[in-house]
Amino acid sequence: MIRITDLPSDKSISHRALIFASLLPGRRVLHGSHFGEDVLSTIRCFKAFGVAITVHDTEIIVESRGWQQFVEPREALDAGNSGTTARLLMGICAALPFKVTISGDASLSKRPMRRVAEPLILMGADITLSNDGCLPAVILGQKLHSIDYKLPVASAQLKSALLLAAFVGGVSIIVHEPARTRNHTELFLSTVGAEIEQVGITTWFNPQAEYQFANEYSIPGDASSAAYWVVWASLADGVILELDNVGLNPSRLSYVQVLKEMGADIVTASKNSANKTERIGSIMVRSSKLHGITVSAESIADIIDEIPILALAAGFADGETCFNAVEELRVKESNRLEAITELLKTIGVTNNIDGNDLHITGAKVWHGGIIHTYHDHRIAMCAEIAAILIDADFDIDDVNCIAVSYPNFFEHLRQINEGSRVIK
Ligand code: S3P
Repeated sequence: MIRITDLPSDKSISHRALIFASLLPGRRVLHGSHFGEDVLSTIRCFKAFGVAITVHDTEIIVESRGWQQFVEPREALDAGNSGTTARLLMGICAALPFKVTISGDASLSKRPMRRVAEPLILMGADITLSNDGCLPAVILGQKLHSIDYKLPVASAQLKSALLLAAFVGGVSIIVHEPARTRNHTELFLSTVGAEIEQVGITTWFNPQAEYQFANEYSIPGDASSAAYWVVWASLADGVILELDNVGLNPSRLSYVQVLKEMGADIVTASKNSANKTERIGSIMVRSSKLHGITVSAESIADIIDEIPILALAAGFADGETCFNAVEELRVKESNRLEAITELLKTIGVTNNIDGNDLHITGAKVWHGGIIHTYHDHRIAMCAEIAAILIDADFDIDDVNCIAVSYPNFFEHLRQINEGSRVIK
């Protein structure tokens, strides 16, 4: 049996833990490990507001006087490659009493920001984007007002930006999502004492006069990072894999459901932990035979980060798999739809994009080749998983980008390789 117990700290939860620990006055210790570059981007940005943040091996210490005491940053806030940092910050800055510029790296500077700016402007925000609706965003904080808003895309980043604007701006908000997305921001809001209610795809938030946030907070391992090994173990021959200390928030585990429907043998088990907000536990996987399925449009938002690795799984499954309505993949860290299609073709898997649907026919024979990752961490990890499943030569052009979310990926890859069995 192969056992992994130190997955990187959940990226989405780490960003939000840092945000709430910075917004609310006090000293807090965030327990976790292997924080990726995206999380370091959030730290860099909040330090620019005057928050004292120190990163140690397995913990981050945040000392803040609260958002009311934030200072105006002297330079643009650089969100690096992190869409979550940029979009959640846009929401926060909309209500801060000064001017902030948010910038990002080449990939982030091409991603759509109008979807965030438009509802914030409806709340009264003053935001200027580049002509094509991207970063840099120049935000002049304003007094905000309530809105009742229907999100045009199912995006947890967008929903969170609006909730955070309402939180800092001290106004109520109602948001309706086209489909359910991860609910970490809502869980944090509820933990700090905000009035927040969710029924189906509608969320109501009402501000309170005072909030409290615990002095210690434990960040679980990243369920999306776990997905690479869950797929590997499902496809490899005769493997039993246990992943421990993983976040088991149901809004992040729909990929497990998809794999089970494809025939995977996966068991999750919750355990009690210091984290009262987010579920934590283990994922146990046994190798099995997978078959193709159709994944409906309504399920896509919940598996958005795992579609590339699920697409790879489909390339090893019997029959055809179809992922419906995956257009959002085009505006991730790379055009992930094109990138995964190219990767699959390179290894011998027939697939095609029909409108916004991705059709994949499982192959019987696979081969190596030259893989372009487009500097996208999730594409690079898919390429590495393909390379350990297939007994052939691979040339993957950039794997440094993996550090964005999974700095200890290659340690785990080595561990897996020792117990690895290729399928071909
Ligand atoms: C995230 C939400 C998702 C996801 C991203 C992290 C978050 O983006 O792809 O990796 O932490 O809220 P969208 O909400 O834009 O789909």
